[in-house]
Amino acid sequence: MMFTRLYLKMIFYIFLFLFVIGTFVFTRFSKDLKEKYNVSLFHTAQYILQNGFLMKPDKNNTLLLKEDVTKENVAKEFQSLSHIYYDTIEKDQNSVYTLIILISSFIDHKKRREKIRESWGNPKIWNTNDKFMIVFVTGKVERANSMMELAEEAKVTKDIISLDIPEDFYLLAKKVIIGFIWAKNNLKFKAILKGDDDIFINLDNAINFINRNEETYGYFGQKMHNQPVERSGRYKLTKEEHEKNVFDPYCSGGGFIFTNASIYKIIPLFDIEKILRIDDAHIGELAFQTGIVAKMTQGFYMWNDWCEYLNDIIVSHPADNPTCIDFLLKRSMIDNGKLPRDSHVESQKYYKDVSLLSKK
Ligand SMILES: *[C@@H]1O[C@H](CO)[C@@H](O)[C@H](O)[C@H]1NC(C)=O
Ligand SMILES: *[C@@H]1O[C@H](CO)[C@@H](O)[C@H](O)[C@H]1NC(C)=O
Ligand SMILES: *[C@@H]1O[C@H](CO)[C@@H](O)[C@H](O)[C@H]1NC(C)=O
Repeated sequence: MMFTRLYLKMIFYIFLFLFVIGTFVFTRFSKDLKEKYNVSLFHTAQYILQNGFLMKPDKNNTLLLKEDVTKENVAKEFQSLSHIYYDTIEKDQNSVYTLIILISSFIDHKKRREKIRESWGNPKIWNTNDKFMIVFVTGKVERANSMMELAEEAKVTKDIISLDIPEDFYLLAKKVIIGFIWAKNNLKFKAILKGDDDIFINLDNAINFINRNEETYGYFGQKMHNQPVERSGRYKLTKEEHEKNVFDPYCSGGGFIFTNASIYKIIPLFDIEKILRIDDAHIGELAFQTGIVAKMTQGFYMWNDWCEYLNDIIVSHPADNPTCIDFLLKRSMIDNGKLPRDSHVESQKYYKDVSLLSKK
């Protein structure tokens, strides 16, 4: 009898002890997590699948019925969004953005992101009435340092979506898919420009292009037509991966534009587990299946290796050299009347001559 009482008491104290330790560990852990990733924004956890209803956290926390979504599509979108570790983006859900720019950025390319933010990505420079937003989509690497540094950067700049998708050239289509679905579920917009982190965008030209566009189902860029499917080398796809020998038309992935309606139309075809290793061709193939055909469009210069200035640039690639970006930006600003005319600068056609600019 005595023995049993003692035994029960001991069990009670052991439980009490474990409870106290557990509570302590839990609070510590969630505090750490909160500080690191800002849990209020952590995961786009707003998406709850409920009997074919999509719950969106509008201010009143009401259930919104989306008539055009099937349960399966909602589940697929949810699955793609579950790859988001966190996003730190401040979303203005009441405005319609003219343009959302989704930049697929390698996690360690902090310098490129900084250059974009201070140059063509800086809204103050363009001073437009139209709203645009730049979002960097990054992946995962094994190095903890890179992940921590990205979180620090994201906290300050509030323009990063961090994914649990490994940084890998052959998985880039996943960044595009998740980016499109994220934008659809978080923002209202007229168009999305998908780009890489080594491009220059003339925002005035891009915005004018979208405002003038009359095609509902638009897909614009440098069109790749009758592009053979390579069976060896970097861009290789096996017959199992892709049976056809020629790709459907697609826009080169350095920078292309999808209109809002096209985004809504292509998303149901996305399957994050079934992608081609060539991201731009993959997007083109799916678009084509829905009847959206890539359109060759003036202003998309995907092989502008000499960094030539043209006054109709919407996107120029490559522009990984900061001097090239400065040059294109300066000439763009002069041409659209936002900087005073400068015969010296205007006499230059390629950035290589830009050294002359500083002599001024
Ligand atoms: C987390 O995000 C909210 C909303 O944007 C912000 O007010 C808060 O300061 C953030 N906290 C940290 C620790 O960054
Ligand atoms: C939230 O509720 C208020 C008061 O009922 C209403 O005026 C408002 O339109 C609602 N907001 C949304 C986004 O439904
Ligand atoms: C985008 O397209 C969807 C589907 O067609 C439509 O419901 C929505 O209103 C559109 N958004 C804008 C900003 O045009």
